Amino acid sequence: MANPKFQSPKGVKDIFSPESEVRRKVLDIFAKQARLAGYGEIVLPLFEDIGVFSRVGESTEIVQKQMYDFQDKDNRQMALRPESTASVMRAFIQHRPVTPWKCWYEGAHFRYEKPQAGRFRQFHQVGVEVLGTNDPAADTEVISLAAKFFQEIGCGVEIVLNSLGGVESRANYLETLRDYLTARNNELSAQAQKTLSLNPLRVLDSKVEGDAAIISEAPEMKLSADDQKHFDDVKEKLESLNIAYTLNKRLVRGLDYYTRTAFEFIATNLDSSQDAVGGGGRYDGLSELLGGPKCAGVGFAIGIDRTLLALEETQKISTNTLDVFIAYVGAQTEAIQMATELRQAEISTEFSFDNRSLKAQMKLADKSGAKVALILGEDEMKQNSVSVIELRKASNQSLVPQKDLKAHLLKLLNA
Ligand code: HAM
Repeated sequence: MANPKFQSPKGVKDIFSPESEVRRKVLDIFAKQARLAGYGEIVLPLFEDIGVFSRVGESTEIVQKQMYDFQDKDNRQMALRPESTASVMRAFIQHRPVTPWKCWYEGAHFRYEKPQAGRFRQFHQVGVEVLGTNDPAADTEVISLAAKFFQEIGCGVEIVLNSLGGVESRANYLETLRDYLTARNNELSAQAQKTLSLNPLRVLDSKVEGDAAIISEAPEMKLSADDQKHFDDVKEKLESLNIAYTLNKRLVRGLDYYTRTAFEFIATNLDSSQDAVGGGGRYDGLSELLGGPKCAGVGFAIGIDRTLLALEETQKISTNTLDVFIAYVGAQTEAIQMATELRQAEISTEFSFDNRSLKAQMKLADKSGAKVALILGEDEMKQNSVSVIELRKASNQSLVPQKDLKAHLLKLLNA
């Protein structure tokens, strides 16, 4: 085929059925789990004043290099959202819902990244945030919600956990780490040297091979007694729920706002370059960064595109949803009426267009994955009946009066 004139932008996909079907199921399962845990949905704008996002990660790649920013017709500097935690906090500060406030969201997010497997410029996230409490039970609740979601969809994940310390211990650690890295500045990669001047913590996240030895010898974070108690509480509560986790002191996350608990969900069957299917943590200083009141917060986001990649490997979710395919000869109007009636009874039904031959329609019925084919031919029409064929069972055909069809099908499909 000749190259079409227009293609989807680089790093952006069109998603067809059946992948879109699996995706929808996964999103529905997430929404159900969030509702079961008492979270209300928040629908946020796709773009915001750029300041909402730039405040939350001055030293991060997400803000420095990956923002889809633009000037609107009134010369306001805007950006497509690269994540939603900052938007949730902006909405909280603007509307002040009663705390503790628990919300969930889903939607497209945008980062100008180098596209590769599992890394896109438009990607879908689901997530939750809890604002207005620093109770470790909230940390445990969000982690267990994500764990339950991954379990429900059949995606194997490892939970990696760390504590980055509260606002104060984090600030002290930043100084210690800055001194250590500055002393070894000459040995660091050019990229790490640049990151060091912005945020020493992010150097720990360097993927450059030459930086690994320096990172492994770096001093470790010392938690204050309060932060240690908070972290111990989170771990204890996770253990009480039988949620397994591994500790990793080098887990720093890709955004600047994290304090105390930080965690990632790593898909056990994906390559290490794309295996983080989700992540989150506490951000007790974010509200003030955005000009709001003191307000603790904790949450996570899960990348749906990557989660689907992990599921593709295992094919855990079945996508076949069609119940009935109607084939007809000279009875298109009746076929349309029958399809409409069956759909009303929540029996998913299709029929073919273009008046094809019965043989061609039966081939389509087979390909469609439908459980049952109905034939509306001349003989059937004369007898006010319809032939019912169970496609997945060899030569199982019967003639059913049209008035009994709905009940007959419901019995067959529920058997
Ligand atoms: P994040 O780690 O930047 O955290 O993103 C969460 C997840 O989104 C990642 O683990 C990954 O699965 C997916 N993701 C990120 N970038 C891409 C991309 N370019 N292509 C495909 N998937 C991607 C956050 O966004 C925080 N707001 C999470 C959070 C919520 N922290 C506290 N509350």
